[in-house]
Amino acid sequence: MKRQQVVEGLLAQKRRAPRECGEAFAPSNIALCKYWGKRNAELNLPVNSSLSISLGNLGTRTVVRFAEASDRILLNQQPAPRDFAARLSAYLDLFRPAGQFFDVCTENNIPTAAGLASSASGFAALSLALDRLMGWELAREELSILARLGSGSATRSLYHGFVVWHAGQRSDGMDSVAEPLLGAWSDLRIGILSVSSDRKSVGSTEGMNRTRETSELYHSWHKQAACDFDALRTAIASRDFPMLGQTAENNALAMHATMLSAWPPLCYWLPDSLAAMQAVWRARAEGLELYFTMDAGPNLKLLFLQADEAAVCARFPSVRVVNPWGGHA
Ligand code: PMV
Repeated sequence: MKRQQVVEGLLAQKRRAPRECGEAFAPSNIALCKYWGKRNAELNLPVNSSLSISLGNLGTRTVVRFAEASDRILLNQQPAPRDFAARLSAYLDLFRPAGQFFDVCTENNIPTAAGLASSASGFAALSLALDRLMGWELAREELSILARLGSGSATRSLYHGFVVWHAGQRSDGMDSVAEPLLGAWSDLRIGILSVSSDRKSVGSTEGMNRTRETSELYHSWHKQAACDFDALRTAIASRDFPMLGQTAENNALAMHATMLSAWPPLCYWLPDSLAAMQAVWRARAEGLELYFTMDAGPNLKLLFLQADEAAVCARFPSVRVVNPWGGHA
């Protein structure tokens, strides 16, 4: 099944009432149980279900309009880099009425230096903005399918708070959708600990494919992910912070273990990443309830409770603290 067929199927019965402009915000998200491995690369269908937490008002705001001669894509008020613009234009091709172009202004309020991926919030905001421009009035769940076609982790950026992305089983991916877990955990905090904001040399798609094809440890990954997914849901339902932190940290390290055992080996860590991990382990040994998670990059995302914020900031002066439920844009 091709991406175009999925889009046509989804939009077949929808009304079209185009407006002058469509505008939307979508939050960035951090996975606590990671998406790592595609069962279908074209549709970004995952091997395992994943679970994330959205970053409140940190994310992407996008405005889309129709344009005449060619696509015009601005990123943070500047013409977007060529690869970024090409990726967006290829995505817009899926929705393009014949002979029509788009004017896209996209702004990230995630500091680039934080080393946080903006493709998740970017494709979620673009899907929402297109829905408003075209007047489709798709349900959020349907929009999570459209966002997934841009980037897997974007599936989860359609909602605030805790979000699950069901792997699904269908080959067309119509059951591979996101769903919010209701209820705020208002004293939970995320600390962004930036080690480097350099572009990674191996993108997540290539990393996933290499791992899936060559790592012996990948065989156990989907089993661990399934257990972690259930444990995280239990931890969230019972507000069990140690269970949440342990499960998230172990899940991230297990994902990185599959990369280290791939061939050629894949290691996103820098010496400072390891130093930060060791500092977290030391803090925990000294009684601080502090955990971390990491994605396909060198930066850490710390997990802790509000009561420990001062202690965490004292140990990690450069940390940027995010309250996931603190004022949604
Ligand atoms: O959405 P992508 O293709 O950038 O992949 C994201 C993969 C991880 O960030 C490592 C894990 C996740 O679930 O977000």
